[in-house]
Amino acid sequence: MRIDIITVLPELLESPFSHSIMKRAKDKGLLEVYAHNLRDTTPYKQGQVDDYQFGGGAGMVMMPEPLAVAIELLQKYRKYNEIIYMTPDGPLFDQKTANTLSLKENIMIICGHYKGIDDRIRQLYVTKEISIGDYVLSGGELAAAVVVDAIGRLLPGVLNDETSALFDSFQDGLLAPPVYTRPAEFRGMAVPEILLCGDPKKIEVWRHEESVKRTEERRPDMLRED
Ligand code: ADE
Repeated sequence: MRIDIITVLPELLESPFSHSIMKRAKDKGLLEVYAHNLRDTTPYKQGQVDDYQFGGGAGMVMMPEPLAVAIELLQKYRKYNEIIYMTPDGPLFDQKTANTLSLKENIMIICGHYKGIDDRIRQLYVTKEISIGDYVLSGGELAAAVVVDAIGRLLPGVLNDETSALFDSFQDGLLAPPVYTRPAEFRGMAVPEILLCGDPKKIEVWRHEESVKRTEERRPDMLRED
């Protein structure tokens, strides 16, 4: 999978993909992530990419022309399955969306800044909008990094134990059960005995029950969803 990100702050997108699982995905050639600096291709002088908003009001808006130039330049080389705009007014990101996006070949992500991007870019090019939560970040970069990470770890071959993503929270509509490692007793607290019984069937049943219990307690809304 290839992901092209249009941004005014490519530096912000270096570290998130240079470590751990994302690094492994890149090293194995399963995921390519490129951050393109919008200022490099803007047709305006001194790298200008934003301007005052029509109708007045505080805050700058990202101009349509530099974005259109950057998008069309990328489109010359490949067809994109989705052109995503990261924005707090988009639909909320979830595991289902991550799963769907992980099946795509080429994705473009546009990171907004300031008051956002000129709406005509959304109307003309954007095929999907994503918010990572009901709060406003200073730009779309950190949100894009969250989305790329969630997608990248789902690509076949990225995780060592391929089945492990199947048991993540949300993957089966439930939160993950509690997990324990050594020592079997810590500060007077023992690991649930069933985990030491050596019977995988019994352990699976226990984990499922714990998942349901956790979901009921912490996220009852998930059990009401279809
Ligand atoms: N840009 C600013 N805030 C955002 C959010 N919550 N989600 C996605 N993109 C954003």
